[in-house]
Amino acid sequence: MNDVLPDEAERRLWLEGVVAAWFARYGYRHMRTPLLEHTALFRRAIGESTDIVEKEMYTFTDALNNESLTLRPEATASTVRAAIEHSLLYEGPRRLWYQGPMYRHERPQKGRYREFTQFGAEALGFDGPDVDAELIVMCAALWKELGLEGIRLELNTIGSAEERAAYRADLVRHLEANEARLDADAKRRLHTNPMRVLDSKNPIVQEVAASAPSMMRYLGEASRAHFDGLQRLLHASGIAFEINPRLVRGLDYYNLTVFEWISDRLGAQGTVCGGGRYDGLFAQLGGKPAPGVGFAAGVERLVALLGAPPPTGPSAYLVHQGAGTLEYAFALGEELRAAGFSVVLHAGGGSFKSQMKKADASGAALALIVGEDELKAAAVTVKPLREARPQQQVARAALAARLADFLKGS
Ligand code: HAM
Repeated sequence: MNDVLPDEAERRLWLEGVVAAWFARYGYRHMRTPLLEHTALFRRAIGESTDIVEKEMYTFTDALNNESLTLRPEATASTVRAAIEHSLLYEGPRRLWYQGPMYRHERPQKGRYREFTQFGAEALGFDGPDVDAELIVMCAALWKELGLEGIRLELNTIGSAEERAAYRADLVRHLEANEARLDADAKRRLHTNPMRVLDSKNPIVQEVAASAPSMMRYLGEASRAHFDGLQRLLHASGIAFEINPRLVRGLDYYNLTVFEWISDRLGAQGTVCGGGRYDGLFAQLGGKPAPGVGFAAGVERLVALLGAPPPTGPSAYLVHQGAGTLEYAFALGEELRAAGFSVVLHAGGGSFKSQMKKADASGAALALIVGEDELKAAAVTVKPLREARPQQQVARAALAARLADFLKGS
């Protein structure tokens, strides 16, 4: 879990603003759920034999009422729980989005943290595949808006629960026939979660996976039509993708569409966004059956891909020296802030020279200097700090109106 220091925190804040505006353009409504949920929610939604539930959840017993609680490892389960609890689909389908910290007790490495931030969308009550395509197209638009290149899309379908059961039986037979070549992890998963063996990183297990039967052959007509429809819409939208028949995702609630956006610039933790359809989740959590589809993106990974941060210094740094100048500078700072400028007031005293050093280090575009001369003349000296232009005395009353021109460099 990391402290997020100002340089990074400001980039995140900026990204959050971009993300909120982008979701609004697609008609997604913002929603928030608690960081803590009953442990049973995640066990039921994400699946008992997933890595998350088996070994990554921060779970504890609330000593006051003996309830088992868990810090949320993701937000799809919470969103669906809330939708059921508040009858959110009563008046029809909903497009929702969220953002916030998630918690997984994973082995930390670059791009993988125990506290991390996701923003995500959940489209509830839509059968698709139109809305599946919409979610993917909107991700592509965001990468473009952020200037992120080289994020590729992998797509797969994992069919319906019944189709998957038939597939799973044949997959287990194939894996058993090749058991000698499986590693300990794959052997363990063979009987608990055999589909996860397909996305093993071990090259020998990968060979076994490559010769496994393909899910595509087990798809019924409706599943095939859903996948074809999605691909047609993606083609029509000019979205390039690769079908990865071994993409199964790490959570058990999925059916039909699954997808991941992957960057090759981030090393082992290159997946910046993942999602898919979860048509069984409402019923599984005790609600009226309703389809759902969504994604979540990892903020830390996206920020790592963003270019250099924009300059973050204030517009002006207020330097003051001499009797009565502090009061004058205080009032002037408030006046300029009310006019919309960011102004840092020098605090803590010190010589004129040391104050000018602080002004320079603050990254401010201008130093506003108030000495006893300025005080007498009801004026301020404006000194450009980033360009070789002469300083200039300006009447205090005219400063707010002229400051924008100074900042533009005229
Ligand atoms: P997920 O694939 O587990 O899906 O996580 C989504 C994204 O969160 C990942 O692609 C990655 O960028 C980021 N992420 C996950 N774990 C970490 C970590 N330990 N450190 C840093 N970043 C991480 C879900 O969470 C689903 N709820 C997505 C979804 C929404 N499916 C349908 N609706």
